[in-house]
Amino acid sequence: MGWVRHRRDHGGIFFVDLVDRYGLVQINFDASAHPKLCEQARELKAEWVVAVTGTVRMRPEGMRNPNLATGDIEVVANELEVLNKAKTPPFEIKDPVEASEELRLTYRYLDLRRPELQKNMLLRHRVYQVVRRYLDAHGFVEIETPFLIKSTPEGARDYLVPSRIHKGRFYALPQSPQTYKQLLMVAGFDRYFQIVRCFRDEDLRADRQPEFTQIDMEMSFVDADDVRAVCEGLMAEVLEQVLGYQLATPLPVLPYDEAMAKYGTDKPDLRFALPITDISSLVAGSQFRVFAETVNSGGMVAGLCVPQAEVFTRKKVDDLTAAAKELGGKGLVALKVTPDGWEGGAAKFFSAAEIAAVNAAMHATAGQMLFLVADRREVCLPVLGALRLRLGKELGLIDEGKISLLWVTDFPLLEYSQEEGRFVAMHHPFTSPLREDIPLLQTSPERVRAQAYDLVFNGTEVAGGSIRIHDAELQREVFRVLAISQEEAERKFGFLLEALQYGAPPHGGIAFGFDRLVMLLAGKETIRDVIAFPKTTSALSLMDGAPSEISPEQLRELGLRLAE
Ligand code: AMO
Repeated sequence: MGWVRHRRDHGGIFFVDLVDRYGLVQINFDASAHPKLCEQARELKAEWVVAVTGTVRMRPEGMRNPNLATGDIEVVANELEVLNKAKTPPFEIKDPVEASEELRLTYRYLDLRRPELQKNMLLRHRVYQVVRRYLDAHGFVEIETPFLIKSTPEGARDYLVPSRIHKGRFYALPQSPQTYKQLLMVAGFDRYFQIVRCFRDEDLRADRQPEFTQIDMEMSFVDADDVRAVCEGLMAEVLEQVLGYQLATPLPVLPYDEAMAKYGTDKPDLRFALPITDISSLVAGSQFRVFAETVNSGGMVAGLCVPQAEVFTRKKVDDLTAAAKELGGKGLVALKVTPDGWEGGAAKFFSAAEIAAVNAAMHATAGQMLFLVADRREVCLPVLGALRLRLGKELGLIDEGKISLLWVTDFPLLEYSQEEGRFVAMHHPFTSPLREDIPLLQTSPERVRAQAYDLVFNGTEVAGGSIRIHDAELQREVFRVLAISQEEAERKFGFLLEALQYGAPPHGGIAFGFDRLVMLLAGKETIRDVIAFPKTTSALSLMDGAPSEISPEQLRELGLRLAE
Protein backbone atom coordinates (compact mmCIF):
# COMPACT_ATOMS: atom_id res chain seq x y z
CA MET A 1 0.00 0.00 0.00
CA GLY A 2 1.20 3.48 -0.68
CA TRP A 3 1.04 6.51 -2.94
CA VAL A 4 1.28 6.54 -6.71
CA ARG A 5 4.23 8.78 -7.54
CA HIS A 6 5.32 8.20 -11.15
CA ARG A 7 3.63 6.39 -14.01
CA ARG A 8 5.23 5.16 -17.22
CA ASP A 9 3.27 3.72 -20.12
CA HIS A 10 5.27 1.29 -22.25
CA GLY A 11 2.40 0.10 -24.43
CA GLY A 12 2.03 -3.50 -23.34
CA ILE A 13 3.20 -2.75 -19.81
CA PHE A 14 2.21 0.03 -17.44
CA PHE A 15 4.61 0.88 -14.63
CA VAL A 16 3.74 2.65 -11.40
CA ASP A 17 6.20 3.73 -8.73
CA LEU A 18 4.49 3.10 -5.42
CA VAL A 19 5.95 5.12 -2.58
CA ASP A 20 5.73 5.19 1.19
CA ARG A 21 7.94 6.19 4.11
CA TYR A 22 10.17 3.17 3.60
CA GLY A 23 10.92 3.77 -0.06
CA LEU A 24 9.72 3.10 -3.55
CA VAL A 25 8.78 -0.03 -5.41
CA GLN A 26 8.06 -0.48 -9.09
CA ILE A 27 4.71 -2.10 -9.90
CA ASN A 28 4.43 -3.85 -13.23
CA PHE A 29 0.96 -4.06 -14.78
CA ASP A 30 1.25 -6.46 -17.66
CA ALA A 31 -1.49 -6.06 -20.30
CA SER A 32 -0.96 -9.51 -21.80
CA ALA A 33 -1.41 -11.32 -18.45
CA HIS A 34 -4.05 -9.02 -16.87
CA PRO A 35 -5.58 -6.79 -19.55
CA LYS A 36 -8.38 -5.50 -17.32
CA LEU A 37 -6.10 -4.76 -14.41
CA CYS A 38 -3.74 -2.86 -16.71
CA GLU A 39 -6.61 -0.78 -17.98
CA GLN A 40 -7.65 0.02 -14.43
CA ALA A 41 -4.05 0.98 -13.60
CA ARG A 42 -3.94 3.43 -16.49
CA GLU A 43 -6.60 5.45 -14.63
CA LEU A 44 -4.30 5.98 -11.65
CA LYS A 45 -3.11 9.54 -11.00
CA ALA A 46 -0.28 10.99 -8.99
CA GLU A 47 -0.71 10.68 -5.22
CA TRP A 48 -3.65 8.30 -5.32
CA VAL A 49 -3.53 5.81 -2.45
CA VAL A 50 -3.63 2.21 -3.61
CA ALA A 51 -3.22 -1.37 -2.46
CA VAL A 52 -1.53 -3.78 -4.84
CA THR A 53 -1.21 -7.52 -4.52
CA GLY A 54 1.31 -9.28 -6.69
CA THR A 55 4.49 -11.25 -7.01
CA VAL A 56 7.89 -9.85 -6.24
CA ARG A 57 10.43 -10.81 -8.87
CA MET A 58 13.82 -9.77 -10.19
CA ARG A 59 13.64 -7.16 -12.91
CA PRO A 60 14.92 -8.41 -16.26
CA GLU A 61 18.65 -7.88 -16.81
CA GLY A 62 19.30 -4.38 -18.17
CA MET A 63 16.19 -2.96 -16.47
CA ARG A 64 17.76 -2.82 -13.00
CA ASN A 65 18.43 0.46 -11.31
CA PRO A 66 21.56 0.35 -9.14
CA ASN A 67 20.77 3.82 -7.70
CA LEU A 68 17.66 2.56 -5.94
CA ALA A 69 17.54 0.25 -2.90
CA THR A 70 14.70 -1.69 -4.55
CA GLY A 71 16.06 -1.18 -8.06
CA ASP A 72 16.67 -4.87 -8.73
CA ILE A 73 13.09 -5.99 -8.16
CA GLU A 74 9.54 -5.19 -9.14
CA VAL A 75 6.08 -6.34 -8.15
CA VAL A 76 4.03 -7.92 -10.92
CA ALA A 77 0.49 -6.96 -9.99
CA ASN A 78 -2.48 -9.24 -10.05
CA GLU A 79 -4.83 -7.12 -7.91
CA LEU A 80 -5.31 -3.40 -7.54
CA GLU A 81 -7.54 -1.52 -5.12
CA VAL A 82 -7.87 2.24 -5.05
CA LEU A 83 -8.04 3.20 -1.36
CA ASN A 84 -8.39 6.90 -2.03
CA LYS A 85 -8.17 9.32 -4.92
CA ALA A 86 -6.24 12.60 -4.74
CA LYS A 87 -6.71 16.02 -6.23
CA THR A 88 -3.88 16.99 -8.54
CA PRO A 89 -1.20 18.23 -6.13
CA PRO A 90 -0.26 21.92 -6.47
CA PHE A 91 3.34 20.89 -7.10
CA GLU A 92 5.11 17.75 -8.12
CA ILE A 93 6.38 15.81 -5.14
CA LYS A 94 10.00 15.11 -6.04
CA ASP A 95 13.58 15.94 -5.17
CA PRO A 96 15.04 18.34 -6.00
CA VAL A 97 11.76 20.20 -5.58
CA GLU A 98 10.89 23.01 -7.97
CA ALA A 99 7.94 24.72 -6.28
CA SER A 100 8.39 27.92 -4.26
CA GLU A 101 8.84 27.60 -0.51
CA GLU A 102 5.64 29.58 -0.01
CA LEU A 103 3.56 27.06 -1.94
CA ARG A 104 5.28 24.21 -0.18
CA LEU A 105 4.63 25.68 3.27
CA THR A 106 0.96 26.13 2.37
CA TYR A 107 0.77 22.42 1.54
CA ARG A 108 3.36 21.33 4.07
CA TYR A 109 1.80 17.87 4.45
CA LEU A 110 2.52 17.28 0.75
CA ASP A 111 6.00 18.73 0.98
CA LEU A 112 6.63 16.38 3.90
CA ARG A 113 6.04 13.48 1.52
CA ARG A 114 9.29 14.36 -0.26
CA PRO A 115 12.03 11.82 0.52
CA GLU A 116 14.35 14.67 1.49
CA LEU A 117 12.06 15.98 4.23
CA GLN A 118 11.10 12.47 5.32
CA LYS A 119 14.80 11.78 5.77
CA ASN A 120 15.22 14.93 7.84
CA MET A 121 12.29 14.10 10.11
CA LEU A 122 13.54 10.56 10.62
CA LEU A 123 16.99 11.93 11.45
CA ARG A 124 15.38 14.28 13.95
CA HIS A 125 13.59 11.32 15.49
CA ARG A 126 16.90 9.43 15.78
CA VAL A 127 18.54 12.36 17.52
CA TYR A 128 15.69 12.61 20.09
CA GLN A 129 16.10 8.94 20.93
CA VAL A 130 19.90 9.08 21.23
CA VAL A 131 19.70 12.17 23.45
CA ARG A 132 17.04 10.64 25.74
CA ARG A 133 18.93 7.38 26.07
CA TYR A 134 22.23 9.11 26.75
CA LEU A 135 20.91 11.51 29.35
CA ASP A 136 18.85 8.83 31.06
CA ALA A 137 21.94 6.62 31.22
CA HIS A 138 23.83 9.50 32.84
CA GLY A 139 21.33 10.05 35.62
CA PHE A 140 19.33 12.93 34.12
CA VAL A 141 15.66 13.14 35.07
CA GLU A 142 13.17 14.33 32.45
CA ILE A 143 10.78 16.81 34.04
CA GLU A 144 8.21 18.99 32.28
CA THR A 145 7.84 22.63 33.20
CA PRO A 146 4.85 24.87 32.49
CA PHE A 147 4.18 26.71 29.25
CA LEU A 148 1.92 29.27 30.88
CA ILE A 149 4.32 31.19 33.06
CA LYS A 150 5.31 34.58 34.29
CA SER A 151 7.57 36.54 31.92
CA THR A 152 11.17 35.23 31.89
CA PRO A 153 13.96 37.68 31.28
CA GLU A 154 15.90 36.09 28.41
CA GLY A 155 16.34 39.17 26.32
CA ALA A 156 13.80 38.51 23.57
CA ARG A 157 10.16 39.59 23.55
CA ASP A 158 7.60 37.32 25.20
CA TYR A 159 4.58 35.79 23.53
CA LEU A 160 1.69 36.63 25.83
CA VAL A 161 -1.50 34.74 26.61
CA PRO A 162 -4.39 36.70 28.13
CA SER A 163 -6.06 35.18 31.16
CA ARG A 164 -9.85 34.80 30.95
CA ILE A 165 -10.31 34.19 34.65
CA HIS A 166 -8.03 37.02 35.74
CA LYS A 167 -8.93 39.74 33.29
CA GLY A 168 -6.17 42.19 32.48
CA ARG A 169 -3.51 39.67 33.44
CA PHE A 170 -1.30 37.67 31.09
CA TYR A 171 0.72 34.53 31.06
CA ALA A 172 3.91 34.49 29.03
CA LEU A 173 5.04 31.52 26.98
CA PRO A 174 8.53 30.56 28.18
CA GLN A 175 11.51 31.85 26.21
CA SER A 176 13.20 28.92 27.95
CA PRO A 177 12.55 27.00 31.19
CA GLN A 178 15.49 28.85 32.78
CA THR A 179 14.00 29.78 36.14
CA TYR A 180 12.14 26.48 36.52
CA LYS A 181 15.20 24.36 35.98
CA GLN A 182 17.04 26.37 38.61
CA LEU A 183 14.13 25.79 40.99
CA LEU A 184 14.36 22.06 40.24
CA MET A 185 17.96 22.22 41.46
CA VAL A 186 16.78 23.91 44.66
CA ALA A 187 14.26 21.07 44.88
CA GLY A 188 17.14 18.59 44.83
CA PHE A 189 16.74 16.87 41.45
CA ASP A 190 20.45 17.25 40.80
CA ARG A 191 20.38 16.40 37.08
CA TYR A 192 17.44 17.57 34.97
CA PHE A 193 16.74 17.56 31.28
CA GLN A 194 13.84 18.29 29.00
CA ILE A 195 13.43 18.39 25.24
CA VAL A 196 11.25 21.41 25.30
CA ARG A 197 9.60 24.02 23.12
CA CYS A 198 10.65 27.64 23.68
CA PHE A 199 8.88 30.73 22.38
CA ARG A 200 10.54 34.00 21.41
CA ASP A 201 9.00 36.92 19.62
CA GLU A 202 12.15 38.08 17.86
CA ASP A 203 13.30 38.93 14.36
CA LEU A 204 13.64 35.70 12.47
CA ARG A 205 16.49 34.38 10.37
CA ALA A 206 17.32 31.10 8.68
CA ASP A 207 18.36 29.58 11.99
CA ARG A 208 15.62 31.11 14.15
CA GLN A 209 11.95 30.29 14.61
CA PRO A 210 9.38 31.88 16.93
CA GLU A 211 8.92 28.48 18.52
CA PHE A 212 11.88 26.17 18.60
CA THR A 213 13.10 23.21 20.60
CA GLN A 214 15.86 23.01 23.17
CA ILE A 215 17.60 20.14 24.87
CA ASP A 216 17.54 21.88 28.22
CA MET A 217 19.81 20.67 31.01
CA GLU A 218 20.74 21.67 34.54
CA MET A 219 23.08 20.07 37.09
CA SER A 220 23.92 20.63 40.76
CA PHE A 221 27.34 20.62 42.46
CA VAL A 222 29.16 21.16 39.17
CA ASP A 223 31.56 23.59 37.61
CA ALA A 224 31.76 24.60 33.96
CA ASP A 225 34.12 21.70 33.15
CA ASP A 226 31.56 19.16 34.40
CA VAL A 227 28.76 20.63 32.27
CA ARG A 228 31.02 20.72 29.23
CA ALA A 229 32.13 17.11 29.74
CA VAL A 230 28.50 15.90 29.75
CA CYS A 231 27.78 17.87 26.57
CA GLU A 232 30.88 16.52 24.86
CA GLY A 233 29.83 12.98 25.72
CA LEU A 234 26.35 13.69 24.38
CA MET A 235 27.68 15.20 21.15
CA ALA A 236 30.11 12.31 20.66
CA GLU A 237 27.24 9.82 21.10
CA VAL A 238 24.92 11.71 18.72
CA LEU A 239 27.61 12.09 16.03
CA GLU A 240 28.58 8.45 16.29
CA GLN A 241 25.02 7.08 16.30
CA VAL A 242 23.66 9.38 13.63
CA LEU A 243 26.59 10.03 11.30
CA GLY A 244 29.05 7.32 12.29
CA TYR A 245 31.47 10.12 13.09
CA GLN A 246 34.11 9.74 15.82
CA LEU A 247 34.41 12.99 17.76
CA ALA A 248 37.76 13.64 19.42
CA THR A 249 37.24 14.98 22.95
CA PRO A 250 37.91 17.09 24.95
CA LEU A 251 36.95 19.82 22.51
CA PRO A 252 39.06 22.94 22.07
CA VAL A 253 38.19 25.86 24.36
CA LEU A 254 38.59 29.41 23.11
CA PRO A 255 38.12 32.37 25.46
CA TYR A 256 35.74 34.99 24.07
CA ASP A 257 38.46 37.67 23.80
CA GLU A 258 40.64 35.39 21.75
CA ALA A 259 37.74 34.30 19.51
CA MET A 260 36.94 37.95 18.80
CA ALA A 261 40.59 38.92 18.24
CA LYS A 262 41.35 36.02 15.91
CA TYR A 263 38.04 35.42 14.13
CA GLY A 264 35.98 38.54 14.75
CA THR A 265 33.03 36.56 16.13
CA ASP A 266 31.99 34.59 19.20
CA LYS A 267 31.05 31.65 16.97
CA PRO A 268 34.03 31.05 14.71
CA ASP A 269 33.89 28.47 11.95
CA LEU A 270 37.18 26.64 12.41
CA ARG A 271 36.82 24.39 9.39
CA PHE A 272 39.29 26.81 7.83
CA ALA A 273 42.05 29.06 9.25
CA LEU A 274 42.29 32.60 7.78
CA PRO A 275 42.85 34.32 11.14
CA ILE A 276 42.70 38.06 11.76
CA THR A 277 46.01 39.76 12.59
CA ASP A 278 46.24 42.97 14.60
CA ILE A 279 48.87 45.16 12.94
CA SER A 280 48.07 48.39 14.84
CA SER A 281 51.53 48.83 16.35
CA LEU A 282 53.20 48.19 12.98
CA VAL A 283 51.34 50.92 11.10
CA ALA A 284 50.80 53.49 13.86
CA GLY A 285 53.73 55.55 12.59
CA SER A 286 53.02 55.11 8.88
CA GLN A 287 52.42 57.87 6.35
CA PHE A 288 49.00 56.40 5.69
CA ARG A 289 46.90 58.89 7.61
CA VAL A 290 43.78 56.75 8.07
CA PHE A 291 45.78 54.00 9.75
CA ALA A 292 47.97 56.26 11.87
CA GLU A 293 45.04 58.37 13.06
CA THR A 294 42.84 55.37 13.85
CA VAL A 295 45.53 53.77 15.99
CA ASN A 296 46.46 57.02 17.69
CA SER A 297 42.86 57.68 18.62
CA GLY A 298 42.50 54.30 20.32
CA GLY A 299 41.24 52.25 17.38
CA MET A 300 42.89 49.37 15.65
CA VAL A 301 44.13 48.24 12.25
CA ALA A 302 43.83 44.55 11.49
CA GLY A 303 43.46 42.35 8.48
CA LEU A 304 43.27 39.07 6.69
CA CYS A 305 45.93 37.49 4.51
CA VAL A 306 44.18 35.62 1.74
CA PRO A 307 45.65 33.17 -0.78
CA GLN A 308 44.94 33.34 -4.53
CA ALA A 309 45.57 37.07 -5.17
CA GLU A 310 44.92 36.38 -8.86
CA VAL A 311 41.17 35.90 -8.30
CA PHE A 312 40.77 39.41 -6.87
CA THR A 313 39.79 41.43 -9.89
CA ARG A 314 38.96 45.09 -9.51
CA LYS A 315 35.27 44.17 -9.37
CA LYS A 316 35.78 41.55 -6.68
CA VAL A 317 37.71 44.00 -4.52
CA ASP A 318 34.97 46.61 -5.04
CA ASP A 319 32.34 44.06 -4.00
CA LEU A 320 34.26 43.21 -0.84
CA THR A 321 34.72 46.89 -0.05
CA ALA A 322 30.99 47.44 -0.45
CA ALA A 323 30.37 44.46 1.84
CA ALA A 324 32.73 45.90 4.45
CA LYS A 325 30.83 49.19 4.34
CA GLU A 326 27.49 47.45 4.59
CA LEU A 327 28.79 45.71 7.70
CA GLY A 328 29.47 49.13 9.23
CA GLY A 329 33.13 49.59 8.30
CA LYS A 330 34.47 52.79 6.77
CA GLY A 331 36.26 50.95 4.01
CA LEU A 332 38.69 48.25 3.07
CA VAL A 333 42.32 48.55 2.05
CA ALA A 334 43.32 45.86 -0.44
CA LEU A 335 47.01 45.21 -1.11
CA LYS A 336 48.58 42.58 -3.30
CA VAL A 337 51.79 41.09 -1.99
CA THR A 338 54.48 40.90 -4.70
CA PRO A 339 58.17 39.96 -4.57
CA ASP A 340 58.95 43.71 -4.58
CA GLY A 341 56.50 44.91 -1.95
CA TRP A 342 52.84 45.76 -2.19
CA GLU A 343 50.57 46.74 -5.07
CA GLY A 344 47.44 48.80 -4.53
CA GLY A 345 46.30 52.36 -4.02
CA ALA A 346 47.61 52.65 -0.47
CA ALA A 347 50.93 50.85 -1.11
CA LYS A 348 52.96 54.02 -1.69
CA PHE A 349 52.35 55.25 1.86
CA PHE A 350 54.28 52.45 3.51
CA SER A 351 58.04 52.14 3.98
CA ALA A 352 59.91 48.98 3.05
CA ALA A 353 60.41 48.28 6.75
CA GLU A 354 56.69 48.63 7.50
CA ILE A 355 55.81 46.36 4.59
CA ALA A 356 58.31 43.75 5.76
CA ALA A 357 57.02 43.91 9.34
CA VAL A 358 53.35 43.59 8.32
CA ASN A 359 54.13 40.75 5.90
CA ALA A 360 55.98 38.92 8.65
CA ALA A 361 53.18 39.43 11.19
CA MET A 362 50.54 38.25 8.71
CA HIS A 363 52.68 35.43 7.29
CA ALA A 364 52.14 37.02 3.88
CA THR A 365 54.09 35.88 0.85
CA ALA A 366 54.08 36.92 -2.79
CA GLY A 367 50.85 36.01 -4.62
CA GLN A 368 48.66 36.66 -1.58
CA MET A 369 46.28 39.47 -0.86
CA LEU A 370 45.96 41.59 2.27
CA PHE A 371 42.61 43.05 3.29
CA LEU A 372 42.99 45.65 6.03
CA VAL A 373 40.40 47.50 8.09
CA ALA A 374 40.99 50.48 10.38
CA ASP A 375 38.29 51.29 12.90
CA ARG A 376 37.20 51.10 16.50
CA ARG A 377 37.86 47.60 17.82
CA GLU A 378 34.10 46.88 18.15
CA VAL A 379 33.70 47.60 14.42
CA CYS A 380 37.00 46.40 12.99
CA LEU A 381 36.88 42.83 14.33
CA PRO A 382 33.27 41.94 13.42
CA VAL A 383 33.71 43.41 9.93
CA LEU A 384 36.81 41.29 9.38
CA GLY A 385 35.06 38.28 10.93
CA ALA A 386 32.22 38.56 8.42
CA LEU A 387 34.65 39.08 5.50
CA ARG A 388 36.64 36.06 6.68
CA LEU A 389 33.53 33.89 6.47
CA ARG A 390 32.57 35.25 3.07
CA LEU A 391 36.07 34.74 1.68
CA GLY A 392 36.24 31.26 3.19
CA LYS A 393 33.07 30.33 1.30
CA GLU A 394 33.93 32.12 -1.95
CA LEU A 395 37.45 30.75 -2.17
CA GLY A 396 36.34 27.23 -1.28
CA LEU A 397 38.52 27.15 1.84
CA ILE A 398 35.83 25.40 3.90
CA ASP A 399 36.19 21.64 4.04
CA GLU A 400 32.51 20.64 3.95
CA GLY A 401 33.31 17.11 5.07
CA LYS A 402 34.82 18.35 8.29
CA ILE A 403 33.04 18.90 11.61
CA SER A 404 34.37 21.69 13.78
CA LEU A 405 33.15 21.83 17.38
CA LEU A 406 34.59 24.12 20.00
CA TRP A 407 33.71 25.90 23.20
CA VAL A 408 33.79 29.66 23.51
CA THR A 409 34.08 30.64 27.17
CA ASP A 410 34.66 33.59 29.50
CA PHE A 411 32.12 35.87 27.86
CA PRO A 412 31.74 39.33 29.31
CA LEU A 413 29.05 39.17 32.00
CA LEU A 414 27.56 42.47 30.89
CA GLU A 415 27.35 44.62 27.84
CA TYR A 416 26.54 48.29 27.84
CA SER A 417 23.30 49.15 26.09
CA GLN A 418 23.49 52.62 24.55
CA GLU A 419 19.76 52.40 23.95
CA GLU A 420 18.87 51.77 27.58
CA GLY A 421 21.80 53.68 29.05
CA ARG A 422 22.71 50.80 31.37
CA PHE A 423 24.46 47.47 31.52
CA VAL A 424 22.47 44.46 30.40
CA ALA A 425 23.26 40.78 30.95
CA MET A 426 24.97 39.24 27.94
CA HIS A 427 23.58 35.76 28.72
CA HIS A 428 20.90 36.20 31.39
CA PRO A 429 20.94 37.88 34.79
CA PHE A 430 21.39 34.61 36.72
CA THR A 431 24.80 33.92 35.17
CA SER A 432 27.62 33.77 37.69
CA PRO A 433 30.67 35.98 37.27
CA LEU A 434 34.11 34.36 37.36
CA ARG A 435 34.98 34.23 41.04
CA GLU A 436 38.17 36.27 40.61
CA ASP A 437 36.24 38.99 38.76
CA ILE A 438 33.55 39.54 41.42
CA PRO A 439 35.38 42.52 42.99
CA LEU A 440 35.31 44.25 39.57
CA LEU A 441 31.49 44.43 39.76
CA GLN A 442 31.87 47.56 41.87
CA THR A 443 34.73 49.21 39.96
CA SER A 444 34.67 48.20 36.29
CA PRO A 445 31.65 46.03 35.52
CA GLU A 446 32.50 45.93 31.81
CA ARG A 447 35.60 43.86 32.63
CA VAL A 448 33.77 41.17 34.60
CA ARG A 449 33.82 37.83 32.83
CA ALA A 450 31.03 35.29 33.13
CA GLN A 451 31.15 31.57 33.82
CA ALA A 452 29.35 31.15 30.53
CA TYR A 453 30.07 28.86 27.61
CA ASP A 454 28.74 28.41 24.10
CA LEU A 455 29.18 25.33 21.95
CA VAL A 456 29.94 26.26 18.35
CA PHE A 457 29.32 23.78 15.53
CA ASN A 458 30.68 24.76 12.10
CA GLY A 459 30.23 28.45 12.89
CA THR A 460 26.74 28.13 14.42
CA GLU A 461 26.00 28.49 18.13
CA VAL A 462 24.31 25.17 18.95
CA ALA A 463 24.30 25.45 22.72
CA GLY A 464 24.78 28.06 25.40
CA GLY A 465 24.81 27.94 29.15
CA SER A 466 26.44 29.03 32.36
CA ILE A 467 27.14 28.40 36.00
CA ARG A 468 24.41 30.25 37.90
CA ILE A 469 24.46 32.52 40.86
CA HIS A 470 23.25 30.45 43.82
CA ASP A 471 23.83 33.14 46.41
CA ALA A 472 20.94 35.58 46.90
CA GLU A 473 23.33 38.36 47.98
CA LEU A 474 25.49 38.10 44.84
CA GLN A 475 22.31 37.93 42.76
CA ARG A 476 21.13 41.19 44.34
CA GLU A 477 24.47 42.81 43.59
CA VAL A 478 24.27 41.78 39.94
CA PHE A 479 20.76 43.23 39.78
CA ARG A 480 22.16 46.45 41.20
CA VAL A 481 24.81 46.62 38.47
CA LEU A 482 22.10 45.90 35.89
CA ALA A 483 20.19 48.87 37.34
CA ILE A 484 17.29 46.58 38.22
CA SER A 485 15.81 48.06 41.38
CA GLN A 486 15.15 45.91 44.42
CA GLU A 487 11.46 46.45 43.87
CA GLU A 488 11.66 45.47 40.19
CA ALA A 489 13.78 42.40 41.00
CA GLU A 490 11.28 41.41 43.66
CA ARG A 491 8.37 41.87 41.28
CA LYS A 492 9.99 40.01 38.39
CA PHE A 493 11.92 37.19 40.04
CA GLY A 494 11.01 37.40 43.71
CA PHE A 495 10.16 33.70 43.67
CA LEU A 496 13.65 32.81 42.46
CA LEU A 497 15.41 35.13 44.91
CA GLU A 498 13.30 33.64 47.68
CA ALA A 499 14.14 30.09 46.57
CA LEU A 500 17.87 30.84 46.55
CA GLN A 501 17.57 31.45 50.30
CA TYR A 502 16.36 27.94 51.09
CA GLY A 503 19.54 26.00 50.55
CA ALA A 504 20.16 26.41 46.82
CA PRO A 505 23.01 24.12 45.72
CA PRO A 506 25.72 25.47 43.43
CA HIS A 507 24.39 24.68 39.95
CA GLY A 508 24.77 25.31 36.25
CA GLY A 509 23.48 24.12 32.95
CA ILE A 510 23.12 24.60 29.27
CA ALA A 511 20.60 24.39 26.45
CA PHE A 512 21.14 23.05 22.94
CA GLY A 513 19.21 24.48 20.07
CA PHE A 514 17.76 21.14 18.99
CA ASP A 515 16.57 22.31 15.57
CA ARG A 516 19.96 23.84 14.84
CA LEU A 517 21.71 20.67 15.90
CA VAL A 518 19.54 18.54 13.61
CA MET A 519 19.95 21.08 10.79
CA LEU A 520 23.75 20.79 11.05
CA LEU A 521 23.64 17.00 11.25
CA ALA A 522 21.41 16.96 8.16
CA GLY A 523 23.74 19.39 6.37
CA LYS A 524 20.93 21.91 5.81
CA GLU A 525 21.04 25.69 5.67
CA THR A 526 17.80 26.46 7.47
CA ILE A 527 16.02 24.98 10.48
CA ARG A 528 12.77 25.07 8.49
CA ASP A 529 14.07 21.94 6.74
CA VAL A 530 14.11 19.96 9.98
CA ILE A 531 10.88 21.22 11.58
CA ALA A 532 7.66 19.48 10.56
CA PHE A 533 5.50 22.60 10.54
CA PRO A 534 7.70 25.70 10.54
CA LYS A 535 6.69 29.33 10.24
CA THR A 536 7.83 31.77 7.59
CA THR A 537 10.40 34.45 8.34
CA SER A 538 7.49 36.75 9.10
CA ALA A 539 6.20 34.28 11.72
CA LEU A 540 3.22 33.11 9.65
CA SER A 541 1.90 29.60 9.36
CA LEU A 542 0.86 29.59 5.71
CA MET A 543 -0.92 26.27 6.07
CA ASP A 544 -3.48 27.10 8.75
CA GLY A 545 -3.24 30.88 8.56
CA ALA A 546 -1.96 31.54 12.10
CA PRO A 547 -1.95 34.12 13.54
CA SER A 548 -5.59 34.78 12.80
CA GLU A 549 -8.23 37.19 13.98
CA ILE A 550 -10.46 36.05 16.80
CA SER A 551 -14.17 36.53 17.27
CA PRO A 552 -15.70 39.44 19.20
CA GLU A 553 -17.00 36.87 21.74
CA GLN A 554 -13.50 35.58 22.36
CA LEU A 555 -12.25 39.12 22.88
CA ARG A 556 -15.12 39.95 25.21
CA GLU A 557 -14.52 36.82 27.24
CA LEU A 558 -10.91 37.85 27.71
CA GLY A 559 -11.87 41.39 28.60
CA LEU A 560 -9.84 42.74 25.68
CA ARG A 561 -10.59 45.43 23.14
CA LEU A 562 -8.48 46.00 20.01
CA ALA A 563 -7.03 49.47 19.60
CA GLU A 564 -7.92 51.09 16.29
P1 AMO B 1 20.03 30.57 24.69
O1 AMO B 1 19.12 31.73 24.62
O2 AMO B 1 21.46 30.75 24.31
O3 AMO B 1 20.09 30.00 26.20
O4 AMO B 1 19.41 29.39 23.85
C1 AMO B 1 20.05 28.13 23.76
C2 AMO B 1 20.16 27.67 22.33
O5 AMO B 1 18.89 27.68 21.69
C3 AMO B 1 19.03 27.98 20.31
N1 AMO B 1 18.13 29.11 19.96
C4 AMO B 1 17.27 29.10 18.92
N2 AMO B 1 17.01 28.18 17.97
C5 AMO B 1 16.06 28.45 17.06
N3 AMO B 1 15.33 29.59 17.04
C6 AMO B 1 15.53 30.55 17.98
N4 AMO B 1 14.78 31.67 17.97
C7 AMO B 1 16.55 30.33 18.97
N5 AMO B 1 17.02 31.04 20.03
C8 AMO B 1 17.96 30.28 20.61
C9 AMO B 1 20.49 28.31 20.06
C10 AMO B 1 21.01 28.59 21.46
O6 AMO B 1 22.37 28.24 21.57
N6 AMO B 1 18.20 29.33 29.23
C11 AMO B 1 19.41 29.49 28.44
C12 AMO B 1 20.27 28.26 28.49
C13 AMO B 1 21.02 28.09 29.79
O7 AMO B 1 21.63 29.06 30.27
O8 AMO B 1 21.05 26.97 30.30
C14 AMO B 1 19.01 29.75 26.99
O9 AMO B 1 17.89 29.64 26.59
O10 AMO B 1 21.13 27.17 19.53
